Amino acid sequence: MSKRFYITTAIDYVNGQPHLGHAYEKVVADVIARSRRSLGQEAFFLTGLDEHGQKVQQAAASEGKEPQAYCDELAAAWKSFATKLQLTNDDFVRTTEKRHREVVQAILAKLHAEGHFYKDIYEGFYSTREETFLTEKDRRPDGTFDPAYGEVIKLKEENYYFKLKPHQQWLIDYLEKNPSFVAPEYRRNEVLGFLKHNTLEDLCITRPANRLNWGIPVPFDPNYVTYVWFDALVNYISIPAALGDVIAAKSVSYQPSTINHELSLWPADLHVIGKDILKFHAVYWPIMLKAMGAPLPKQILVHGWWQKDGQKMSKTTGNVVDPVAIIDEWGLDAFRFYVLRELDIGPDGNWTDTGFKGRYSSELANGLGNLVNRSLSMLKRYRNGVVPAVSNELATDANRVIAETRSLLEQNQLQAALLAIWSLITRANQYVDHTAPFKLAKDPQQSTRLDEVLYNLAEVSRILAVLLWPFLPTTAGKIYEQLGLTGTPDQFSAAKWGQLQAGHTIGSPAPLFPRKDI
Ligand code: MSP
Repeated sequence: MSKRFYITTAIDYVNGQPHLGHAYEKVVADVIARSRRSLGQEAFFLTGLDEHGQKVQQAAASEGKEPQAYCDELAAAWKSFATKLQLTNDDFVRTTEKRHREVVQAILAKLHAEGHFYKDIYEGFYSTREETFLTEKDRRPDGTFDPAYGEVIKLKEENYYFKLKPHQQWLIDYLEKNPSFVAPEYRRNEVLGFLKHNTLEDLCITRPANRLNWGIPVPFDPNYVTYVWFDALVNYISIPAALGDVIAAKSVSYQPSTINHELSLWPADLHVIGKDILKFHAVYWPIMLKAMGAPLPKQILVHGWWQKDGQKMSKTTGNVVDPVAIIDEWGLDAFRFYVLRELDIGPDGNWTDTGFKGRYSSELANGLGNLVNRSLSMLKRYRNGVVPAVSNELATDANRVIAETRSLLEQNQLQAALLAIWSLITRANQYVDHTAPFKLAKDPQQSTRLDEVLYNLAEVSRILAVLLWPFLPTTAGKIYEQLGLTGTPDQFSAAKWGQLQAGHTIGSPAPLFPRKDI
C-alpha cells in the first residue's frame, strides 16, 4: 500500500477558548491536506485536543465538575469549531481516549524497560501554570520570573527523568544532515543554535499522582502520572498505531485490535505547529522517537503568531479576534482567504479589521467575485447561457498560473499560490475591460469575437474554481454550480484549458461575495 500524506496540527488545550491562532493553524493544515488530495495523493489529516494536566483539573474543580465530564463538554465545542472551519480532518484525537492512553503507556513501559528513565529528586522552582520546573537560568535580569509562568512555587519532589543528553549530538547531526526537517530555515537555525550552545537537561516525564492526578498513569509506578507533553506529543503516533498502521504500532510496541495494511501513515509527513512549541517538537519529540526506534517525521512546519492591531491577543483586555463571529458575518471563505493571503507561513502576523475588510472588498468582491459574476452574467444575457466554441486566447496565461500553483502547492507555499491565482484574476478582469464584450454585443458583426471572449471568461472561471478549491471550498463549489457543472472542483487535473464544452448550458450567476457597506 502506498504511503499516505500524513499531516497533523498541534492539539489544543481543551480549556482554552478557540481563537484566531488556533483557527489559522487548522486552516493552514486543511489547505495543505486538500491540496495533496487535489493533486491526486491520498492524505490523512489529524487534529484534536490536549486534555490532561493540572490546569484542566483545577478548572474542572472550580466548576464543581469531574474532569472527564468537563473535558467532554468542551470537546464538543472544539469539534463544532472544526466543523465551522470546514476542516477535512480524517480523525480527531482526544488525549483522554483509551486508544491514546494505551499507546502512551506502551511507550512508557518500553522506554522504562530499555533503561531510558531514571528516578531523581528535584528541589527548586515550579510554575503551576506551565506545569514546568524552572531554573536560575529562567530568571529575568531583575531576578523575577516571567509573569507568563504564573505563580512560581518552591518544590522538592521525586520524579522520573528521561535521558536526553546521550542524544544531543545525534540530534545536531540529524538537523545538519536534514535541512528541511524544520521549516522555515530560520526556525531550524534557532533549534541548532540552542542545541549547540546549551547542554540538554534531562526531561522530567512524571508528576506525583497525589499532587496531580488528571493524567495518564505511569504503568510501572502507580504513584505517578505522565507529564502532559510526554502524553500530548505521542498523539501523532498513537492514532496511527491504534488505527492499525504497521510501522506506528511496531514503533510503540502496541498491539492494535486489527492491523490495517491499507493504512500507511507513519512517519508523519508534516507537523504544523506554532513557534512557541518548537522546542517540544524539534528537540523532545525526535529524541522520544529515536529512543523508541521509530522513524522521524519528515518535516515540522512552524508558523508565526497573530496579533490584533499590533498587540498580543488577550482575553483580559478584550483584544481578541473571534473567528466564529467573523465567519458568521462574512462567511468562512472570507476568513480563510484573509488569514492565508495576509500571513505567509513563518513570520508573525497582524489582524486589523480594516485590512480584513479591505481584502474582502478589493480581492474577493471586486476581484474574484466581479470577474465570475460579470463573465457568467454576460454569457447568460448574450448567449442564453450556452458556452460558445473553444477559444484559446487566455490559455497561455492560465497554463502558466496552473503550473505555478501546482508547484507552489507542492511546496506548501500557500500565500504565494494565492498571489499566482490572483494574477490570473487580474489578467482576466483586464481582458474584460480591454475586449469590452458589452460593446461587442451591440454590434452583430462582432458576434464571433464576442463568442471568443465569452468562452475565455467562462473557462477562466472554471479553472479558478479548481485552483481555489483547497483554499475556498465553498466559493469553488458555487462557481462550479453557477457554471452548471456537476461534482466538486476537487481534482487539480481538471485545471486543463479547453475542458469546458461548447454547447454546455451554464446555471444561474449570483454574486459570490456580496458587497457590504464598510
Ligand atoms: N497543547 C499544546 C500543544 C500540544 S501539541 C502535541 C498547545 N496548545 S495551545 O492550545 O496553546 O496551542 C495550540 C496551537 O495554537 C499551537 O501551535 C500554538 O502555537 C497555536 N497558537 C496559539 N496562539 C496563537 C496565536 N496567537 N497565533 C498563531 N498561533 C497560535 O500549545
